[in-house]
Amino acid sequence: MSEHFASRRFLLLLRSNWLSRSGAVVTTFSFMLMVSSFLLQVFGILAGPYAGLVTFLVLPGLFVVGLLLIPAGLLLYRRRLGERMEALTHRPFRLLRLVAVLTVVNVVVVGVAGYQGLHYMDSVEFCGTLCHEVMIPQYNAYLDSPHARVACVQCHIGPGASWFVKSKLSGLRQVLAVMFDTFERPIPVPVKDLRPARETCEQCHWPDKFTGDRLVVRRRFKSDRETTPSNRVLLMKTGGTRPDGEPTGIHWHIHSGVEVRYRASDESRREIPWIRLVDRRTGREEVFTLPGVDPANPPPGPERVMDCVDCHNQPSHIFHRETEEIDRSIDLGLLSRDLPYIRKVGLEALRASWTQAGAEAGIRGMLSEFYAAKEPVPAEKRPLVEAAAKEIHAIWARNNYPHMKIAWNTYESFAGHAGCLRCHDDDHVSASGRRIPLDCESCHAILAYRTPDLPPYLR
Ligand code: HEC
Ligand code: HEC
Ligand code: HEC
Ligand code: HEC
Ligand code: HEC
Repeated sequence: MSEHFASRRFLLLLRSNWLSRSGAVVTTFSFMLMVSSFLLQVFGILAGPYAGLVTFLVLPGLFVVGLLLIPAGLLLYRRRLGERMEALTHRPFRLLRLVAVLTVVNVVVVGVAGYQGLHYMDSVEFCGTLCHEVMIPQYNAYLDSPHARVACVQCHIGPGASWFVKSKLSGLRQVLAVMFDTFERPIPVPVKDLRPARETCEQCHWPDKFTGDRLVVRRRFKSDRETTPSNRVLLMKTGGTRPDGEPTGIHWHIHSGVEVRYRASDESRREIPWIRLVDRRTGREEVFTLPGVDPANPPPGPERVMDCVDCHNQPSHIFHRETEEIDRSIDLGLLSRDLPYIRKVGLEALRASWTQAGAEAGIRGMLSEFYAAKEPVPAEKRPLVEAAAKEIHAIWARNNYPHMKIAWNTYESFAGHAGCLRCHDDDHVSASGRRIPLDCESCHAILAYRTPDLPPYLR
């Protein structure tokens, strides 16, 4: 009975003014909606980024606002409260106990919802699809990458509290930038304030681990009438740390005893006039510069210690070159070599400038015209032309996003010649006359080059 009285008196308190009353209503409804939308999501009836946003961020927010309104109302309308208080002064302990129980319940609800909310903000869905227009290029590319099962936050934030807080602050800035449409298109790279790769990538890959060579087979084609195969086979000397602790191969740069530091003269880190190598194992220290740059007087700007991202700047959301993409589709048979000049006309279609809406019809029109007028194909091959138009549009669409100003090579990979030759160009010389090597065999053995046939062991 007494509990009953306590709760009645509590209701009286809530009803004592309009503010507390609204607070109670908001809290109760948001709680009920939270529970039901959570259950709907568990059973898969409700899905998508907005459902998550509402369940894990908006409703808990309302819940807390409602809770705060209750004491705010009591405080604001103290005088009216006095009238009601008479009924309450009787055995205040019971009432306090009820308030205490409800407070515990609220703390638990807010705690769980807050935890779920933070968890939700770390999800690939949240990062990749909520600001759909902005992130969709990276999200699509990511789904088709070796890291498709690694969450965005594992590279972009990594473990630890301080980067967590930093990321939430920068996230807030980004949300404002999207709301007020002040973000840059395309999103500029290199990403400023990216967490040092050694603290993120090395959660899963560590330089002491990689050793050995890696066979790279590039099934490429020529742009001739027959779309003749033109394969390349390389043995990449990826290397790392040998069992005896010595560095070797390409991952030499990130051996624990080696430090390669550099200064770039542009924001994109494409021009690197000054490089300092410190080899702590041998005590060797050497500065390599471009002609005309004084080794003792490096260009201004931040000095960067080379890490994974200086080569693997596109480890996850990988935008491919049009030549790579078209060769992959030809190799998989998605573009038929029975269509003469398919690579040539395909590349022309990929490189033409389309709008998002006009690309599909434009590409189909271009191919239809080519195979009607220039290289007429018999009726039974028309379906191949249709299929080719579809595939070429698919390639175009996953690499080109006019609304974000992303076209071919907007995000260029540095894990190939474009990246290596920033330093390995035979122009960087040290005081002793030593050059950063450019000989082909220091990075890879070329086992086959532009051959129509693959070596027997690969056929
Ligand atoms: C394997 C690690 C990794 C994962 C997983 C990852 N990223 Fe990145 N991301 C990077 C690195 C490294 C850069 C920095 C590139 C640079 O500075 O040049 C980057 C850069 C970006 C950029 C800047 C533009 C660009 O394309 O370089 C965006 C946007 C981005 N990431 C979004 C995402 C989203 C969204 C996800 C999840 C769907 C994600 N990333 C997952 C490593 C990762
Ligand atoms: C949470 C674990 C995780 C993190 C963090 C991570 N990776 Fe990976 N990485 C993987 C997995 C798993 C694979 C796929 C291995 C496979 O397919 O054999 C992979 C593959 C790769 C590959 C080989 C790609 C290929 O073509 O086969 C590279 C390069 C790479 N990661 C670089 C990075 C870089 C750079 C970072 C940091 C920016 C990073 N990874 C962060 C787990 C991770
Ligand atoms: C000097 C440039 C460079 C740096 C720095 C670098 N890598 Fe690499 N890495 C490469 C190249 C080139 C390959 C071979 C690519 C290929 O096979 O196509 C490679 C291969 C890899 C692979 C695939 C290994 C395999 O054979 O399966 C992983 C994983 C990887 N790197 C991770 C990292 C991580 C993590 C770091 C930082 C600790 C790092 N790399 C630093 C250039 C670099
Ligand atoms: C920021 C400059 C820089 C970039 C970018 C760079 N390197 Fe290097 N690299 C160096 C320096 C400096 C050395 C040491 C040269 C020396 O020992 O005299 C070196 C050495 C090497 C070596 C060891 C050569 C040997 O046998 O002694 C390999 C292999 C190598 N780099 C491959 C690569 C590859 C592959 C890439 C691109 C994916 C790359 N490097 C990008 C600066 C760079
Ligand atoms: C500093 C290291 C380095 C040097 C020097 C170098 N390469 Fe490469 N090369 C690479 C890397 C890294 C890749 C990318 C491998 C991949 O695509 O997975 C590559 C890729 C290639 C490819 C395959 C590209 C394709 O898809 O068709 C060829 C062919 C090639 N190199 C030829 C050469 C030749 C010829 C030389 C000498 C003039 C040379 N390279 C010098 C690092 C180097």
